Amino acid sequence: MDKKKYYKRLFNYFKKEKMNIFIYFVSSVFLIAINTLLPAISAKNLEAITNTDLENMIKYALILLVLYTINMLVSHLNSRSSTKITNRVEIKIKEDVSKELFDLEIKNFDKEGTGFFANRIESEPRSIAGIFMRFRYSIEDFFTSIGVFIYIFIICPPIGAFLFLSSLINFFIHISRDKKWEKERKESNEMREKYSSNFGELIRGIKDIKVLNLKDYLIKKTIKEQKEIVAYDDKTNKNDQYAYLWIDFLHILMDFFFIVIGVVLIKSENLTGANLLVIYMYKSRTNYFMNSIAGIHRTYKDFNLSLERLYELVDDTKYHKEKYGHKSITDAKGSIEFKNVTFGYDENTILKDVSFRIEPCETIGIVGKSGAGKSTIFNLINKLYTVEKGQILLDSIDINELTERSIRGNVTTITQSPYIFNMSIKDNLKIANPFASDEELQEKCKLCALDDYIDSLENGIDTLVGENGVILSGGLKQRLSIARAILKNSKIIMLDEATSSLDNETQDHIHKSIKKIRKDYTVIIIAHRLSTVIDCDKILVVDDGKIVGFDKHENLIKNNKTYQKLYKKELM
Ligand SMILES: Nc1ncnc2c1ncn2[C@@H]1O[C@H](COP(=O)(O)OP(=O)(O)OP(=O)(O)O)[C@@H](O)[C@H]1O
Ligand SMILES: [Mg+2]
Repeated sequence: MDKKKYYKRLFNYFKKEKMNIFIYFVSSVFLIAINTLLPAISAKNLEAITNTDLENMIKYALILLVLYTINMLVSHLNSRSSTKITNRVEIKIKEDVSKELFDLEIKNFDKEGTGFFANRIESEPRSIAGIFMRFRYSIEDFFTSIGVFIYIFIICPPIGAFLFLSSLINFFIHISRDKKWEKERKESNEMREKYSSNFGELIRGIKDIKVLNLKDYLIKKTIKEQKEIVAYDDKTNKNDQYAYLWIDFLHILMDFFFIVIGVVLIKSENLTGANLLVIYMYKSRTNYFMNSIAGIHRTYKDFNLSLERLYELVDDTKYHKEKYGHKSITDAKGSIEFKNVTFGYDENTILKDVSFRIEPCETIGIVGKSGAGKSTIFNLINKLYTVEKGQILLDSIDINELTERSIRGNVTTITQSPYIFNMSIKDNLKIANPFASDEELQEKCKLCALDDYIDSLENGIDTLVGENGVILSGGLKQRLSIARAILKNSKIIMLDEATSSLDNETQDHIHKSIKKIRKDYTVIIIAHRLSTVIDCDKILVVDDGKIVGFDKHENLIKNNKTYQKLYKKELM
């Protein structure tokens, strides 16, 4: 991974938080200094208490009172600034990465599932943005322990040396564990990610799951996956717990030797009982020294891992972004041409040497058996997938040379299950054209036979439609999305089986609407029922990824075998 590039991106976010970072750093240094000082003063206080030195007891108690109060106030300032930094940077990272995510090729989402991307974007930015906070505790521990060490070395060098040795052993146990830990964290993350992405998909498909009576099966499957994760974490924890067993045993052993050494030193009059007590009180802090170095090491690794996991999504190495050209179409005419296009989603070829030309404002039907490649043609016109063999031209310009806006702004596809946002009908329409006036909205709703339904609602066009338009019937969703397409005013409108689930009357309505608009737009209709495309200017017949006919219905029915077969089947 290109760490430098990632750090540079981050630097830009943190740069904007200069003031807070300044407050954070100054307060952190202050806190570190106070925390380094506190144990020494507390030790002095303890020494005074053990010696019943009343004057010093009051003196140190007062110093401690002042220091603890300052500590409290500075701590508050410190955590306020760090929270601000973390929250703001987190939002900024999320915002930028989310934007870039929309530039990824659809192929990536086909392969990994949408939940995978959503999860990473949710989890990693916080861990990255919180880096300062996480480092601070380790750095604070590091300096506190140095202060304690210096103090112990001054009052008793042999014990200081002994404690240093013991914390060194402690450190090596930690580090040896860390090597494995990094790999385990990566694997555990991946397992959890896969699980929650699958689980998210299950929840989204809850209706179908209930209807298909798959509840028991899927619950079992989910539990099995969860058990696998638990088993893996169990293994990881076991390794950690073994390491801690050694560390604990070391502490017990060191405690014993500490007392033995203390007794020897007191006997030889090299140490007083009061000093031994003070060292005993604070010796646990000497462990902070190596632990904090191990902590900094772990935080650094963790931070890099999060950076890698987040930015690998959008740095165009593992997951590729869509590539666009620089040419623009300002006033689209609406012609489409395929020139010897051969395409497959993977190694299987789906479209085989496909060529055809659609003139501006023609209405074209596309027919063919299921799986013939009809929707694939739409996917390619939308540039959801990139063609590498052959050419697709919009208004005689190679689609690969066009800007994103020139393609997406001029092409609208309506599918069988269009996505309707959880907003009001009006807002769902306005998404396509925020500047549309109320009259314009009304006019388009009428054109798409939505007006009667809207009038029947208590809140009319302002009615909320629920998640993915749950309150709307399939037919209403389609009509709404056709209205959206017309409002968007894109020159090319493509309908993919968009009317097949409608009853005859509604279908008639929509076909009448399409008839009204077809003279101004290039309209392409994929249909299973030939009756819906018979009156198109031309019909494209697709069979096993090849174009086997492109003509008027009257001509095709006379001399195109595939078309005749499809027609006969429909009559049966
Ligand atoms: N994202 C994808 N990844 C891999 N293969 C795909 C993908 N989408 C479609 N296919 C495959 O490409 C072939 C053509 O699919 P396409 O959706 O174009 O057919 P279709 O003619 O629209 O069929 P239908 O009438 O059933 O909608 C099928 O074999 C399908 O399995
Ligand atoms: Mg299809």
